[in-house]
Amino acid sequence: MKIGVVGAGQVGATAALMMAQKELGDIVLVDIVEGMPQGKSLDMAEAAPVELYDSKLCGSNEMCALEGADVVVVTSGVPRKPGMTREDLLGINAKIADSVGKDIAKYAPDSMILMVANPLDVLCQIAFEASGFPKNRVFGQAGILDSARFRCFIGEEVGVSIADIQAMVLGGHGDAMVPLISYTTVAGIPVEQLLPKAKLDKIVQRTRDGGAEIVKLLKTGSAYYAPGAAVAQMVDAIVKDKKRILPCSALCEGEFGIKGTYAGVPVKLGAGGVEQILKIKLTPEEKKALKDSAAIVQKNVDLWHEMQAKSCCCS
Ligand code: 2OP
Repeated sequence: MKIGVVGAGQVGATAALMMAQKELGDIVLVDIVEGMPQGKSLDMAEAAPVELYDSKLCGSNEMCALEGADVVVVTSGVPRKPGMTREDLLGINAKIADSVGKDIAKYAPDSMILMVANPLDVLCQIAFEASGFPKNRVFGQAGILDSARFRCFIGEEVGVSIADIQAMVLGGHGDAMVPLISYTTVAGIPVEQLLPKAKLDKIVQRTRDGGAEIVKLLKTGSAYYAPGAAVAQMVDAIVKDKKRILPCSALCEGEFGIKGTYAGVPVKLGAGGVEQILKIKLTPEEKKALKDSAAIVQKNVDLWHEMQAKSCCCS
């Protein structure tokens, strides 16, 4: 397997290292900053004799290095600064996603595109349109990250191993994401039997603010260890055809009442990419929250289309 990682910043490099440690394939890091992808990949290759992985790593400043890639992880773009929403990044990151999507279609036409940069679900739509790939081959990472944060906070509160905590966060990867209490269990026990509503409400809000909490602490840049781990889990499911059920950003065409918009939904992830969207039962409140969250994604996609139309008129 050949895995491309576009954007060799903190998220891209961390994801690359985690994928190498799992020996998911040979990895090429691509970034416009001269020497950076080459330097980071060489450093990771030199860690291999100690960590004992046989994945080969290399770096390049050229998108043609993606040739033959089976999966391309797209992390390129700018991160948030304290006080910013993910949607504030649209202006810069949308153009990057558009150009990267076109390049992936040119150099790795049979690959899967795994979007990571923000605003995530909007950039999935942009990469989908730019690449012309079928919807099963363009999807995004965020639900695993948001669910991991939710699980982490529940684990701390209940005081048990995170291995026993199952949870799912759906919706767009933004402030209106939808942590599903009804699908959250501790070793199969509904979490509502273990934590009072007030505690759960606080955890839900902390999950929604999870990315901003890290941005505020770091001051420069955003989270990368948990996003990197989430990317590695998705690529693992794809290259080993595991058919894992994971919350991922996928193009909904009627599922949950969402039409033609990317949003975080439970999917079956395997060698065919998003092989299925699982239409699970939701409470009326959850269903509404999911639709509202997808509507925010759609509003920003519309904004991107307007930006594109304006730039066409001006040029
Ligand atoms: C996060 O939630 C960067 O969106 C990413 O941390």
